[in-house]
Amino acid sequence: MHRIAFLGPPGAGKGTQAAELAQALRIPHLSTGDLLRGAVGAGSPLGREADGYMRAGKLVPDALVLQILAERLAGADARAGFLLDGYPRNLAQAETLATLTPLDRVLSFEIPTDELVRRLSGRRTCPVCQTAYHLVSKPPKVAGRCDRDGTELIQRPDDRPEAIEVRLRVYAEQTAPLLDHYRRQGLLRAIDATGTPAEVAGRVRRAVESAPP
Ligand code: AP5
Repeated sequence: MHRIAFLGPPGAGKGTQAAELAQALRIPHLSTGDLLRGAVGAGSPLGREADGYMRAGKLVPDALVLQILAERLAGADARAGFLLDGYPRNLAQAETLATLTPLDRVLSFEIPTDELVRRLSGRRTCPVCQTAYHLVSKPPKVAGRCDRDGTELIQRPDDRPEAIEVRLRVYAEQTAPLLDHYRRQGLLRAIDATGTPAEVAGRVRRAVESAPP
């Protein structure tokens, strides 16, 4: 059983690696960012409430995120394992998660801040399927269009410089303390997230296949 969570600062490559690993392990990729962006795009009441927080780079209130995640986590496809990407994001979320399910591994993506800013500022995203591209490291086959569905790629509103700054600060203040929390439980595996996506994928696979804690 693989019950995995990815932790790491914005732009560290969690989503890129999660998509590939979840497919390889045949478990659902549960990204709270993608779920929230889906709700914003659909214009649901939850999405309308979350939108302002996300644009500003702040965390969406815990209760709203839980509402959207608990439903997915309880789904039949998550019974045999899951990959959480973007949750938990603070200690309260970690405590709530522990009441819903245990985790087998937490992978922490480690990367210098200047590389994060390069990755975030060059990212372009498909608003329909959420696939992330990069102007330099992962350009789409046709400029400005998603390889999967041809949709016009956008820059996420929270990839603007002002929002990036807020997200990095929120990560340091609210999410980074989770590293110690999971280290104390013996669940944490640090991943060097620098290098090409294929190099990082190799490290991720080795960490997932390493002996259980
Ligand atoms: P979320 O969507 O979770 O964003 P994030 O954690 O800030 O992470 P990112 O999606 O920005 O980056 P990533 O690490 O996935 O990097 P990626 O693979 O795309 O959250 C967004 C917002 O939603 C939050 O700010 C908050 O408002 C809200 N939210 C979500 N979860 C919440 C929660 N639990 N509680 C409260 N609020 C919540 O890669 C980035 C770029 O780099 C891409 O262009 C990619 O192509 C490129 N790249 C990837 N790997 C490499 C590589 N090895 N080399 C070169 N380029 C690379």
